[in-house]
Amino acid sequence: MRSKLVAGNWKMHGGIAQNRVLLDMIVTGTAGLRGADCVVCVPYPYLSQVQSLLQPTHIFWGAQNVSQHDKGAYTGEVSAAMLADFACRYVIVGHSERRALYGEDSRTVALKFRAAQGAGLTPILCVGETLEQREATVTEQVIAEQLDAAIELLGVNALVKSVLAYEPVWAIGTGKTATPQQAQDVHAFIRNRVAAHDIGVATELQILYGGSVKANNAAELFAMPDIDGGLIGGASLVADEFITICRAAQS
Ligand code: 13P
Repeated sequence: MRSKLVAGNWKMHGGIAQNRVLLDMIVTGTAGLRGADCVVCVPYPYLSQVQSLLQPTHIFWGAQNVSQHDKGAYTGEVSAAMLADFACRYVIVGHSERRALYGEDSRTVALKFRAAQGAGLTPILCVGETLEQREATVTEQVIAEQLDAAIELLGVNALVKSVLAYEPVWAIGTGKTATPQQAQDVHAFIRNRVAAHDIGVATELQILYGGSVKANNAAELFAMPDIDGGLIGGASLVADEFITICRAAQS
């Protein structure tokens, strides 16, 4: 039986003082959570703060991006080993904002996935189609290309210690959530595609939904059979919202 996971993606938000307040509220508000894990993926400069605040708690932390390289002359980049130094458990790779704004293609994302696992981190691999692609009915081809790049480079067993996140680009930060059925259809497609390689890996794979998940729609999304939690943007910055979403993921 897969457990649920709720991951907050703070994106480029935060500040030392406000992080402390937010995290205190989240820690208190999610005490005693059963059958679900919570993680916050924060900007790099706050990893040290988040590590010291969350180490004694049940909340995990991670980063939002990682270099595909181990070390070297890559100005501005951060390696997976550096993230491991701050005890990150997770790192997001291939977020649509990275793909669209920073030109990361599926092969680069697969290399980042490999780098993360090489340092003992669990990558959260994001896939998702744009509105244009959905309207052109190529959603499944787009997702397949994004997923297959990792499977081809690393083999299907690499998915064992990873998380997938389906984030339709048209639902991110727009307030337009995919309906539970729309999300479920894509999640089932992803799971079936992995199952074509290995049914065991597919059965255990956590697949999160992301895109305008809020306190008022999380429960119906998480009730779908192939939705194993959420990747939360805006609502992860609002304590009450994030706490309610985490609670909606409880078994
Ligand atoms: P929103 O929840 O703000 O739509 O963002 C989703 C997202 O991009 C999480 O990675």
